[in-house]
Amino acid sequence: MTASPPAPDVPPERWRAHVAEVLTRARDRSQLLTDAVDDDDLVRQHSPLMSPLVWDLAHVGNQEELWLVRNVGGRVPVRCDIDQLYDAFKHARAERPFLPLLGPAGARTYVREVRDKVLDVLAHSPLEGRRLLENAFAFGMVAQHEQQHDETMLATHQLRVGGAVLHASPPPPGTGLAAAEVLVPGGPFTMGTSTEPWALDNERPAHVVEVAPFFIDTAAVTNRAYQGFIEAGGYDQPRWWSAAGWAHRQEAALSAPRFWQREGDTWWRLRFGIREPVPPAEPVMHVCFHEAQAYAMWAGRRLPTEAEWEKAARWDPATGQSRRYPWGDEDPGEQYANLGQRHLRPAEAGAYPRGASPLGVNQLIGDVWEWTSSDFGGYPGFAAFPYREYSLVFFGADYKVLRGGSFGSDAVAVRGTFRNWDYPIRAQIFAGFRCARDPVPGEVG
Ligand code: AVJ
Ligand code: FE
Repeated sequence: MTASPPAPDVPPERWRAHVAEVLTRARDRSQLLTDAVDDDDLVRQHSPLMSPLVWDLAHVGNQEELWLVRNVGGRVPVRCDIDQLYDAFKHARAERPFLPLLGPAGARTYVREVRDKVLDVLAHSPLEGRRLLENAFAFGMVAQHEQQHDETMLATHQLRVGGAVLHASPPPPGTGLAAAEVLVPGGPFTMGTSTEPWALDNERPAHVVEVAPFFIDTAAVTNRAYQGFIEAGGYDQPRWWSAAGWAHRQEAALSAPRFWQREGDTWWRLRFGIREPVPPAEPVMHVCFHEAQAYAMWAGRRLPTEAEWEKAARWDPATGQSRRYPWGDEDPGEQYANLGQRHLRPAEAGAYPRGASPLGVNQLIGDVWEWTSSDFGGYPGFAAFPYREYSLVFFGADYKVLRGGSFGSDAVAVRGTFRNWDYPIRAQIFAGFRCARDPVPGEVG
């Protein structure tokens, strides 16, 4: 499996082969997620937070048609009558089941017809002359888009009521960590990228950020640790919560991570239709930003800023340079990170020692998305490309940034620079967090 495209100076045939591989992998995943349930299930809305799975499928095909068949390929449309049904900005998720959508068979035919044309476009399109074509960017963007929706569809599966239909092997077991936290020395580091060929607009450009010294945990907060917060009455004490967080905790009557249920002294959880005891050593997930922040306050700590997270993940103290990934510049193979829906759960701390950063921070990539304390915004010099609706329209204080990807994210759609964002009240995504803290006076020379 390869995640990142070949280096920029390679011949177009290498790009074409790589594009075909990542597009095929995305489609295999979309098919697995949609073939796993029957037609009634595909058209049903499992939660007002989500689209029916059949909408995601045709939306993926429609974006592929817009960018690759029409824009890049200059071909006649596969269908010209459905664009607005699948425009995410025209209809909120909650409304989508009531639209005259393509049915399961129609959606499957549509995405197949689009893909057939795209493979022809890929074979014949030059990969130069326009910015969209250079490094096969438009193809990489479309493959990432499908994989992002595959993760969204996986979240729909998590919300779905009914028996288990998805199956996967467990991730490797945890191992002991050398330390619970590490110091990230103060000083400048390069955040974002100007060279990663398929980095999206919000990851650009590379820019130097001065970061004060801080400590960051070598692993994400576990279910066991989070249960400590619950048992200490953390959900009942406003002092640990921000004003907005407490208001949400009250309004939504939060008392535990989403999908958890208490029975006597035991916590159980629902995971893709399986009811199981909450595994103590796994990272906590399905907590919203406010819960993550309240836990950190209770623990005498805080969430990392987005810049701190990226410095911990990419900065190499030996060279002063930023790496593509915590482990180096190599693509995210199985030995490095829990990605790609290979395992349908996060791994315990220490399960991927080869994926650690130079400073010894583990599992920054994969397992669970990690909430940061930062609002989503553009880097200095940001320019929307190729469309404002990917990132720009979401900039501002409404959204918090998440980093690192989850077990549900594909390698093509995660990088050391990759940025995700969501509302601070959302908990259906595969999100957890790790804590950071400032040094105490005198602790750092
Ligand atoms: C980057 C995950 C926030 O799902 O809303 C999909 C990705 N953008 N289609 C989302 C996306 C357009 C986006 N996130
Ligand atoms: Fe989309």
